[in-house]
Amino acid sequence: MKRYRIAVVPGDNIGPEVISAGCTVLRRLEALGRCGFDFETFPWGAGHYLRTGRAAPEDVVEQVRPFDAIYFGAHGDPARVPDRISSRELMHPIRRGLDLYVNLRPVRFIRGMTSPLKAPEGIDFVVVRENTEGEYANVGGQVHAGDTHEVAMQTTVITRRGAERVMRYAFALARERGGKRYVHCVTKSNALAHVMELWDRTFEAVAADYPDVRTGKSHVDAMSMYVVTRPASFDVVVTTNLMGDIISDEAAAVVGSIGLAAGANLDPTRAGPSMFEPIHGSARDIAARASPIRWRRFAPRR
Ligand code: IPM
Ligand code: MG
Repeated sequence: MKRYRIAVVPGDNIGPEVISAGCTVLRRLEALGRCGFDFETFPWGAGHYLRTGRAAPEDVVEQVRPFDAIYFGAHGDPARVPDRISSRELMHPIRRGLDLYVNLRPVRFIRGMTSPLKAPEGIDFVVVRENTEGEYANVGGQVHAGDTHEVAMQTTVITRRGAERVMRYAFALARERGGKRYVHCVTKSNALAHVMELWDRTFEAVAADYPDVRTGKSHVDAMSMYVVTRPASFDVVVTTNLMGDIISDEAAAVVGSIGLAAGANLDPTRAGPSMFEPIHGSARDIAARASPIRWRRFAPRR
């Protein structure tokens, strides 16, 4: 029986409750005898920041690299730790450091969910969000901080290689899904004429290699409407980092709840582990209502 080593990062607030439930499901799979899991838990996040002054150790990427996969809970504690800290010291180093360039976010209506739409049946698409550059490239800085004339700049970085590889993934996925075979590109090239023009042009070049896959394109403002007005028309949606972040939360709400929305941060080359996480936040307001968590059950066997 193949055993997989999983790095588990339970996170903060509701994070450990959700991850604990997920580990229970994995243990059940194990009991069915198909495969086995060895969990190792890493206590990183806002709590770790409060205890140690860092949300994760500086060598976080090297610590998780040897695993087969990373199972990652929501992190953060906005009342006590600025939100950007655990993202900057924990999540983004892993996404970028392991080159997890696809952030895959399935959007599917499951019967029993309560959608704000009248007829949510048939909604089944996947958001393919670029995950290592774009608006999140972390290029910028502040000058004269704290002064009356302080300045902040943050630059979006689109590279031909970065756009092309995530788009190729989207087209291959549309083929693999074998449904509508339709890739919809989200852009904003009517306003962001430099970066999104390159994005659009790359999309057209990649699309030419997949003549059997239909394509469409919307600016993100219109797309935010279509996610509500015609969500069932989509199959694979490819978009930049920040636009994908926003569209995927909107889409999760449209099918009923961000509480059920899953995300996979993938390195399709499989050079290292990929990371799997729910896309919701740490939800302090509803944390600690579930039954107590028994972490010992998931402790690694030694
Ligand atoms: C997500 C989250 C993160 C992001 C936050 C926590 C920085 O919203 O994974 O969607 O914006 O990428
Ligand atoms: Mg998000």
